[in-house]
Parts: sequence; C-alpha cells; structure tokens
Amino acid sequence: MSGEGEKVGVLVISYGSRAAAMIDALCRSEDYNVRLFVADKQRNPFNVAHAEKHVVIPDLDVEKICKFVEANKNAIDFGICGPEKPIIAGVRDLIERKTGVPMICPTKQYAIEESKVAQRYLIEKCCPEANPRFKVFHCTDYKTVTDVKKAVWSFLDEMGDEVAVKPDKPTAGKGVGVWGDHFTSREQLFEHFWSIFESGSDVLVEEKVEGEESSFQAFCDGKRISALPDTRDYKRAFDNDMGPNTGGMGSYMDKEDWLPFVTKRDREEEEKLVQRIFNELRGNGENEGLRGIPFYVAFMHTGEGSKILEINSRPGDPEIMNVMPVLKDDFVDVCFRMIEGTLSRVECEKKATVVTYAVPMDYGDYRKSYSGDRSVDLSGVHALKEIYGDNLRVYPGSMELREDGSTYALGSRVVCTVGIGETIEEAREISLDGIRSIDGALWNRGDIAAPHYIERSIRKMKELRG
Ligand code: AMP
Ligand code: GLY
Repeated sequence: MSGEGEKVGVLVISYGSRAAAMIDALCRSEDYNVRLFVADKQRNPFNVAHAEKHVVIPDLDVEKICKFVEANKNAIDFGICGPEKPIIAGVRDLIERKTGVPMICPTKQYAIEESKVAQRYLIEKCCPEANPRFKVFHCTDYKTVTDVKKAVWSFLDEMGDEVAVKPDKPTAGKGVGVWGDHFTSREQLFEHFWSIFESGSDVLVEEKVEGEESSFQAFCDGKRISALPDTRDYKRAFDNDMGPNTGGMGSYMDKEDWLPFVTKRDREEEEKLVQRIFNELRGNGENEGLRGIPFYVAFMHTGEGSKILEINSRPGDPEIMNVMPVLKDDFVDVCFRMIEGTLSRVECEKKATVVTYAVPMDYGDYRKSYSGDRSVDLSGVHALKEIYGDNLRVYPGSMELREDGSTYALGSRVVCTVGIGETIEEAREISLDGIRSIDGALWNRGDIAAPHYIERSIRKMKELRG
C-alpha cells in the first residue's frame, strides 16, 4: 500500500492497537515507500504483516530495543514510540545517544506522565484554575498507620469525603479509586490508599470533580503544539459506566474538533490551558525534548470550567485510533516535520469515528476466569471491507500470530474496529458491525457512542452549568 516515492525506514515501538493504527497511517503514505522495523510486545498479526523486520521484546526493555535499532541503524530514518513504559525509561535519550536515529516521543525528562504528583505541581503553577484541590501523602513521612489515617481523615473532612485516590505513577487508568464509585466508606477508601502506600508509592488524594470527560491530544515539534480533535474515552469495563476502570473500552470523535456535550469555546479553553503548560516547559524558545505527543490531557468538564484529571506523554489508546485513520496530512511527512521543527498544524478529514474494543472473557472481571479456547478469527471482519472499504479499520492489539498462521487472544484488549462516517451514529454502526463479525470468545461494550449515552452527557453538562 505504501507509495512509490523515496524509501524511508521507520522504527515503531509497539504495545497494543495504537501501534497498528500508526503503522497503518505510515504505510498509507503516498509520497514515501515505508520500510518498517517493529519492536513489539508480541507477534501482533497486523504488525508482522507490514514489517520488513519484526522483533519481539516482551518487556519492551529499552536496552534491547536500542540493540535492535543499532543492528539496523543504516536503514532507519526515525523511530516512533506508542507505549509509556519505554518513554519513561528514556528510550529516546538512549537511542539518539547510541545510534543518532531521531525519535518521536518526549525525552525522559519530559515524560511528565511518570509522576501524577509532579503534574499537579506543574498545573498549579501554570493554570491553577484547572487543578482540583489535592494533597500528597509521602510514604516516608509517617511512622504509624494511625498517623497516616489521621492525616487522611483530616483531608477527607476538608473535602467532605468526595475524593479520588491515585498512586504517584502511571496507572493506565486502573489504579485510581473514586469516592462513590469504588468506595463508599472511609475504611474502604483507606484500604485502597494503604494498598498503594504499602507498595512504597506516594499517594495523591484529590477533590472528586463532577462532569463529563474528554481527551485532548496534540503533536508537538518542540516549538508549537498541533492539536488534534477531542475524543471521548470509555474507561469503565461495562455498559452504563459500571465495573472497574480499564485502559479504555472504546472512544468516539465528532466531525468538529470538539465533542457534542461541550462548546467550541470549551475546546478553545482547553487549547489555551495546554498552551500555558507547553509554554512553561518550552521556556522562551523551543524545546526538542517535547517532540511527539507530550500532552495527551484528560479533561473533566464541570460546572466550574475544565479541570485536568491527568497528563500523559504519549498517544492515547484507544483515542489515537480515532484520529490516525482520518489524518489528511501524510503521516510520514508529519513525522519529518516534527523532527525538523516545522510542524505548525495537522489537518483531519471532517468525519466522525468510533472505536470499539473486543476483550477477553476475563478482562475487567467480566468472567472470574476463562479457561476455554482463545483463538480469534478476523476473516469475517476483514470480509466486511467489501462493504465499508476504508471506512472500517481493524487493529489487533493484545493478539498473537502463531507459527501456523492462526491468531490468539492474549490477556488485554484484543482487537478494535474503527468505524468512520459522516455522523457518529453511522461510524458506530460500522464499528459494531465489525466487532460482531469477529469470531472468538470475546466481549465488548455495546454503548460506546450510543445516542442515549451522548444525550445523557449533553443533559448532564446542561444541569452542571445551570
Ligand atoms: P486517571 O488515570 O487519573 O485518568 O483516572 C482514571 C479515571 O478516574 C478518570 O478517567 C476519571 O473517570 C476518574 N478520575 C480521576 N481523577 C478524578 C477526579 N479528580 N475526580 C473525578 N474522577 C476522577
Ligand atoms: N485511554 C487511556 C489511556 O490511553 O491512558
């Protein structure tokens, strides 16, 4: 599918469907003929099919990734990293130092996802109005459990118990406990708090903010941020936002840059807030260390403006899968411009997109255990391409290609379908038709981007704003 133009070697560090979406965009380049070098968590069938060289590094250890790059450095023009773990471990610093291959992702210093506490201090400095009230509990500050409990109780008195409890580290959405959702008594809250504290991590306790969530993502060349359309992620495992938090069960994006439950002005507000954080980190001129997607910001839209729930320094999964298929710009060109420092904006087609994930039976505790067959056959969903053409994309994630050509589900989000349409409803129908056509013991949320869900978000924002 790749173009006939100049040959370009690209390293992709892959974890989950996010990398498949980026690889798809790279391979659709009309101006470049892309040679792919993939460092993967497992033999992802999509990645294997597209890669010139594919290596499995199950722990995504940065030294091992760097060795793969060193062995192929004459053929690789640049690299791009999807998952947070190698970014936080300094994959860019190491590869650039040892091989000279430029990397698209923040340096270790600017992987601000690493600490939720440091983010709160940064936001406090640049845009305090977007920060929920918070308190940091350092695990080395207290001598006894009674001391900690007393301090926590005192903050709960101040907050009226309505708080979120977070470990001071990336959690992929899973380590966060929210009052009223995950616990309804102080003892239950403390149990969660203590499980984090005991593991040696500081704990962030912050005001629970009420509202509707959206995800903001932007590419960055170190000089400017090029914002992408907002998306809505579905964090909870089950329909109607029940069950445990997950990495994200699906997401939607509208034709405009903003979502149906907010206004254009809200979106402009978001951009201004992120710009202030960027200005702070960029300093006066430019800062190459911020190249990539340094700010994937989870916003909560409340009655009192937009609050920042967290900042990640990488593309969102599933959120980037809403965007990559509708990028108007050639993605290889976008990457070169990020490296050169000449990326001022990126354009997307005015389309709605819906991502739905299919996950294993025991994901999110849907079943307590599952011991049956794990084979997954994607031929049914691929056959739908005859009907939907490019408006349906299928991106395997936690899925493995075996030597005999068969494919199997692993433990996390297995495969997603992206529907692309003129309206959110049209995109959703395509995404769901795709999911229904996958043969395997998997399940999915049925209400991603459902009209009743979106209407409820719109109603809630109206109520909150009075
Ligand atoms: P995080 O990993 O910080 O994005 O948190 C995961 C999920 O927990 C978010 O998507 C929200 O649904 C919820 N959450 C996190 N922080 C808060 C907060 N301060 N108030 C209300 N809900 C929150
Ligand atoms: N969608 C949640 C995440 O990428 O962290």
